This record gives sequence, C-alpha cells and structure tokens, in this order.
Amino acid sequence: MPQLQVHDSADEACRAVAAEMARCAAGGAVLGLATGASPLRVYAELVRRRREDGLSFRRCTCFSLDEYWPMAREDPRSFRQFLRRHLLDAMDLPEERFHSPDGSVAPEQIARHCAEYEARIAASGGIDLQILGIGRNGHIGFNEPGAGRDSRTRRVELAPGTRADAAAEFGGAERVPRQALTMGVATILQARRIVLLAFGAGKRDIVREALEGPVGPQVPASFLQGHPDVRFVLDRGSAGG
Ligand code: GLP
Repeated sequence: MPQLQVHDSADEACRAVAAEMARCAAGGAVLGLATGASPLRVYAELVRRRREDGLSFRRCTCFSLDEYWPMAREDPRSFRQFLRRHLLDAMDLPEERFHSPDGSVAPEQIARHCAEYEARIAASGGIDLQILGIGRNGHIGFNEPGAGRDSRTRRVELAPGTRADAAAEFGGAERVPRQALTMGVATILQARRIVLLAFGAGKRDIVREALEGPVGPQVPASFLQGHPDVRFVLDRGSAGG
C-alpha cells in the first residue's frame, strides 16, 4: 500500500521531497521527472541547493515522463523546455544524460522511438526515483483513464479535461495538442521508488480514489497501490484533513 506523508503546507512538502532528491542525486541516481505545477517548488528548492549548497546532478541521469505530440523540441511549451527552465538549466547534469520523449518524431517513427526510450531507461539501470503529479481525472504522466497496467511508452490521446487544464499555456484548449508521448503505467511502476505530489483541496477526491478506490484503468493512479515503494506527499488540502 502507498505510504502517506501529509505536510502542513505544500512548501514544507516540497522542501522534504527536494531533500530526498538531493540525497539520491549525490549517489548518482536515475531520476524520473514530472512537469505540471505540483513539482515546481521541489525544482525551485533543488536550484536553490545547487546555488547555495553546491548540490550536483553531475552523476545523475534524468528521464522526462511525457511530452506533447506533435511538439518541437525547442518550443517553450514543450515539457522538455519546462524541465530545462525550471530545473536543469541551473544544474550540472551532462546534456547527454537528459532524456525526454521527442515530440517532433514523424508518425511512422513513433513506435520505434518509444521502444528506444524504454531501452534507454533499461540501459541506464532503471529509474531509482520517479516524481509524479496526478491529473484531475487520475492520470499519471499522460496515462489517461483507460490506460492499462501493462502499458509502455507510446502515443496517447489526451482527454478533453486534460487539454482544458493546459489551455492557458497554449492560448485556448483547442490549440493544445490532441496527443502526447508518455511513459506507460508499467514503465512508471518499474521505478524503484515513486513519490506522487498532490496539493490543494482540488486534488482531494482524486487522491482518495487513487489510494482507496478499486485498482483499474478508470483511475490510472490507482495502479500505484500495487507498487512496493510509493509515497503520496500531500498537504492538508489534498489529504482532506
Ligand atoms: C500534466 C502532466 C502530468 C501532471 C499533471 C498534473 O498532465 N502530464 O504529469 O501530473 O499535469 O499537473 P499539476 O501538477 O499542474 O496539477
């Protein structure tokens, strides 16, 4: 069963998770990185530790969970650039050890590209610590409701609500890409340790479903219940008191 860690505030929670990531980084860990608002303060704290305490990602390898498709690699709205902007530009991670699904691959190359992404994760030794957020509908990465326990990195359709949530960055929901490349549920579950971040009362109901509801594709985050080392890091709002 997932462990629960409830903090008084999201700030405090994010500092604790950043401290954990920093310890892993010191050992040269393979880190799985998520985008979205939830991990932002974790990344800000890591950047602060880089500047003030000399935290180093020199020995790390990083894999991004997902990416819009189609999406140019240099597009500021891409998840690749999000991770650069909020974290990796400030760190000393060697360029060749930052991996992200490539939203610019041609349709006929997608299957091969996704298989190669899986192979790169395996070749790195596997993900030691995977950071996750959770979508309003229970998605993890871009594994929307319907995603199976055995799913692997692949191209997926985004749910209308997911596109609506990203509308601001794209100037309207209709401009948000309809598809994405994402690590699959099985890819995520292979990480040795998983930390899911969810803050605010708006996440309370879906967090409860993921933790206590039936395990199945209707709430992809519910598959985490079967992982041996997963922790939900919450604030009072998302924990529901
Ligand atoms: C996006 C990302 C997910 C993330 C989710 C929740 O859909 N693909 O990885 O978990 O948003 O985002 P937020 O943390 O902003 O609520």
